[in-house]
Amino acid sequence: MNAFDSDQDRVVHLRAQIVIHNEAYHGRDEPTVPDAVYDQMVRELAEIEERRPDLLTAESPTQMVGSAPSEIFAPVEHKAPMMSLDNAMDLQELQSWHERVLKGIGDPDSCGLVCELKFDGLAVSIRYEDGELVQAATRGNGRVGEDVTHNIRTIKDIPHRISGAPEVLEVRGEVYLPISGFESLNKEQLAKGQPLFANPRNTAAGSLRQKDATVTANRKLAFWCYQLGEVIGGPRVKSSKDTFELLKSLGLPVNPEVAEFSDFKEVERFCESWMSKRHEPDYEIDGVVVKLADLAQREALGSTSRAPRWAIAFKFPPEEKSTRLIAIDVSIGRTGRVTPFAVLDPIFVGGSTVGMATLHNEDQVANKDVRPGDIVVIRKAGDVIPEVVGPNLADRSADSKPWVFPKVCPSCQMPLERLSGDANTYCVNRRCPARIETGISYFASRNAMDIEGLGERTVRSLVEQGMVNDVGDLFALTKSQLMKLLVSDSSNETLVNNLASAIDEARERPLGNLLIGLGIEHLGPTAAELVARQFRNIDNIVRAEPRDIESIDGIGPVIAQSLRDFFDDADNKAIVEKFRVNGVRLDLADDEMDLPQVLNGRSVVVTGSLDGWFLTRDEAKKSIVARGGKAPGSVSKSTYALVVGSEAGQSKLDKATDLGIPIVGEAEFRHLLETGELS
Ligand code: IVH
Repeated sequence: MNAFDSDQDRVVHLRAQIVIHNEAYHGRDEPTVPDAVYDQMVRELAEIEERRPDLLTAESPTQMVGSAPSEIFAPVEHKAPMMSLDNAMDLQELQSWHERVLKGIGDPDSCGLVCELKFDGLAVSIRYEDGELVQAATRGNGRVGEDVTHNIRTIKDIPHRISGAPEVLEVRGEVYLPISGFESLNKEQLAKGQPLFANPRNTAAGSLRQKDATVTANRKLAFWCYQLGEVIGGPRVKSSKDTFELLKSLGLPVNPEVAEFSDFKEVERFCESWMSKRHEPDYEIDGVVVKLADLAQREALGSTSRAPRWAIAFKFPPEEKSTRLIAIDVSIGRTGRVTPFAVLDPIFVGGSTVGMATLHNEDQVANKDVRPGDIVVIRKAGDVIPEVVGPNLADRSADSKPWVFPKVCPSCQMPLERLSGDANTYCVNRRCPARIETGISYFASRNAMDIEGLGERTVRSLVEQGMVNDVGDLFALTKSQLMKLLVSDSSNETLVNNLASAIDEARERPLGNLLIGLGIEHLGPTAAELVARQFRNIDNIVRAEPRDIESIDGIGPVIAQSLRDFFDDADNKAIVEKFRVNGVRLDLADDEMDLPQVLNGRSVVVTGSLDGWFLTRDEAKKSIVARGGKAPGSVSKSTYALVVGSEAGQSKLDKATDLGIPIVGEAEFRHLLETGELS
C-alpha cells in the first residue's frame, strides 16, 4: 500500500470514528471516549486534510462548526412522482383488488400479474445520464426527496457508470441492510459497549441518511431495483419482464424471486408460500407486491394521488411466536400506576428481539389467563409494542397457579389501591422510591431535560443513597458526590465528568422542556410549550389561575386545573425553589423570544414516525408552537400542512388528500419552520 492509499484509509477510518463518537456524545446513555482522545482524532484528521486537500470533503467533521449543519440534504424534485402502494391485509383484500383490476382493464383473459417480494428498506431513485450516476434521492414525500448521492455511491451493488444505458435512466428500488450485515454491526456495537441497533430497516435508513458518507460506507448496505422512473432513449420497454431484463443487462441488482402468473390462484399460492418462508432470505421482507405485468395496462389503469391502481402490497400478518413466560412482574410509573409485564425467554419476532411485553393491568392478566411458566404466543408487527396473545394451554403444567396481583408496592411496601370502576392499580405513596426514580428518569429523558448519562441505574443509586429525593436535588449534586457514587462501581472518571457537564448543560434547557420534565398530569409537549410562551417565566405559571391558563388557545380546563393543582402542592413549589437556588433557567431564553413567528395562526399536523429525521415528533410539535403555530392531532380543512413520517396513519393521509392539504416530508418541513412557507 502506498502512502496515498494509507492516507485515504486513515481519513475514512477517522471520519467514521469521529462521527460515531459524535453520535455517542449527542445520543443518550452511551459511554464515550475521553475528550483528549476525541480531540486527537480530529486534530489528526485536520492535519491529513491539510496535507492532502484532495481528500477534503464538505461533509468532513472538520468542516462542521459545532453540531450538524442545518441543511444536511438538498431537496430533489422527482421528475416522475415516487408513489406509495395500497395494502391488502389478507387474501380477501387481495382478491378484491384483483376484481377491481379485471374490471378496470376490461379483458379478464389478458391479465398477467407479476409477484415480487416487498423489501423492508428505504425507497430511492437513482439517476443516470449517459450512463453516469449523477443523482440519487430518497422518496421524501413522493414529489420531493433528499439528495443522498454521496451516500448511494458507497453502496457496492450500485454501479457508478453503466455502459449501453439509455440517455436518461432513473432506477428505483429499495436500499436495505442484509440481516447478516445487521447482525455483525450489532456484534461490533456490543464489543464497543455501545447500544444495539433496533432492526435492519431503521439501521438502513439511518445509515443512508448520514451527513458523512464514510459512515454509510461502513454499513454494508445493499440494493434491489424494481422500477423505472424517467427514461429517455434506450429500448422500448413494454412489460415487467422487459424492465427487469433491461435492468439486469445493465448490471443493476434485480432480485431473483420474481414470478409472473396469469392464474390468480398462483398469485395466492406465491403469497402464502412466502408468508411461511419469509425468514429464509438474508434480507427482511414484509409482504409481496403484486403488479400488472403489462405496462400499457398499467398506464390505462392509472393512479390515485397516492398510489397506483395497478399494484398492491400484500402485507404479511403480524408475526406470532411462542416462548416461555418466565415471570410476571410489575413496574411503578411516576404517577404511581402499577403495570404488570411479562418477562419472556427472549425471542426474535417481528424484526427484533423481545424479552418483555406489557400486560397492561390486572384484568388483562386475568382475561388472558397467562401464568408464570406458561408457553405463550407473542405477536409483534414492525415497530409496534409486542403483545402477549395468550397461553398455550396444552403445554401448561398441572401445578400451575394463576398469578396474583401484588397487594403491596414492591418498592415501598405500602398497600396498593385500585378504585372501583378503574382498571388501574396505584401506589399512592408519593415518597415511593420507585415513583421517584421513574419521575427522575422521565425528567432526564430526551424529550424533557435531556440529561445524557443519567441512566436508570445511576438514578436508582442516587435515590438509594439519599442524594436525590426529587428532580430539584439533581442540580445540587457535586462532582465529588458523583465520584463517590459512580467511580466505585464503574471506576470510570470520564463518566462522572460527562454526567456533571450534562447536568450543567441541562440548567439552560428551555422553559417548555422544564415543564414537560415535571410530569404534570395532562400537560403534553405542545401544551407545555404554549404555557411557557404565554407566561414566559415559572413564577407567572406558579401564580396563574385556571381561567388565565385556559385563555390560551389550545389549552382546555383539564390541563389548566392540573397545572394549578400541581403548583398548589408545597413539595412541588419547593422543587421550583431548588431549581432557582441551583441556577436552573426559569424563563424563556432570549433566542426563544426572538424566534420569528412565521407560523402565526397556522395549523400544522404531524403524523407517523420521524425516526431518523432532524428532530423527534415531540420536538417537531414544539417547534411549530414555538413559531406561533398550532400542532393539533387531527387534520381539518383549516390545516395548513400535514407533516408525514414513515408508517403514517392512512386516515390522516386520505383526509389531507381529499381536502387538498399539502403533504410535506422532512426537507419541506425544515423549510416550513424556517420560512413559514411551503416550498
Ligand atoms: S413498487 C409505484 N415494488 O414499498 C409503486 N415497491 O409501501 C412503486 N417496496 O415505496 C413501488 N418492495 O419503498 C415496489 N418490489 C417492490 C417493493 C416496493 C418494497 C416499497 C417501496 C414503496 C413501499 C410502499
